[in-house]
Amino acid sequence: MISFLRAACALLLGLFWASGSPSPGSPVWIPPHDQVARVARFVAHQCDWASVATISTHKPVAGQPFSNAFSVSDGPRGSSSGVPYMYLTRMEISVQDLEVNPVASLSMSLAQTDYCRQQGFDPQSPLCAHVILSGSVIEVNGTEAEFAKKALFSRHPEMIDWPSDHNWFFAKFNLTQVWVLDYFGGVKTVTPEEYFQASPYKHMHCG
Ligand SMILES: *[C@@H]1O[C@H](CO)[C@@H](O)[C@H](O)[C@H]1NC(C)=O
Ligand SMILES: *[C@@H]1O[C@H](CO)[C@@H](O)[C@H](O)[C@H]1NC(C)=O
Repeated sequence: MISFLRAACALLLGLFWASGSPSPGSPVWIPPHDQVARVARFVAHQCDWASVATISTHKPVAGQPFSNAFSVSDGPRGSSSGVPYMYLTRMEISVQDLEVNPVASLSMSLAQTDYCRQQGFDPQSPLCAHVILSGSVIEVNGTEAEFAKKALFSRHPEMIDWPSDHNWFFAKFNLTQVWVLDYFGGVKTVTPEEYFQASPYKHMHCG
């Protein structure tokens, strides 16, 4: 019975998300702002790219923060893991920084979706929910790399054709702290445990 309910629920969630991104003008569902971990998971699943800051190893800014844009995916639409996966090459300038020091900061904002524009929220307003992840970028292998591939290639189909001589590999953002700006009153923090336990989806009484 339980497994039947779970299957039915997974199907409903699949249908809910299969409709894809909402058409312009339709309301976007976002978790209540006081459910901070869920908001963080929601933002992480909605965004297809992130700003990633490394500590530069390149002259003339060696030792300084260096922010760059990366395609990310925490799972195919409707299958959020919360883990931002990336498809990287060691030829890339920020990846060269990560080889020396893997610590990084990754930020994502609903300003990257239609939500903030539709609601009339400026990107710097806390109402335009955004998150900052602290942690490090690490290579993934085996079954986790298989999931990363599904997560990334489903949302960034052109990756399939990226030049193979660049020696692409799958990586994840290994987060140690989540910072959330989703309402007035200053930044809120979420631990990795709270973040991974939270559901980004609408409650469907799935037990
Ligand atoms: C994945 O494999 C590469 C190459 O075999 C290795 O250098 C790396 O340490 C592995 N990473 C993990 C997380 O096991
Ligand atoms: C990943 O992050 C956790 C903390 O969330 C830390 O304990 C662990 O050492 C990190 N793993 C790597 C390979 O850096």
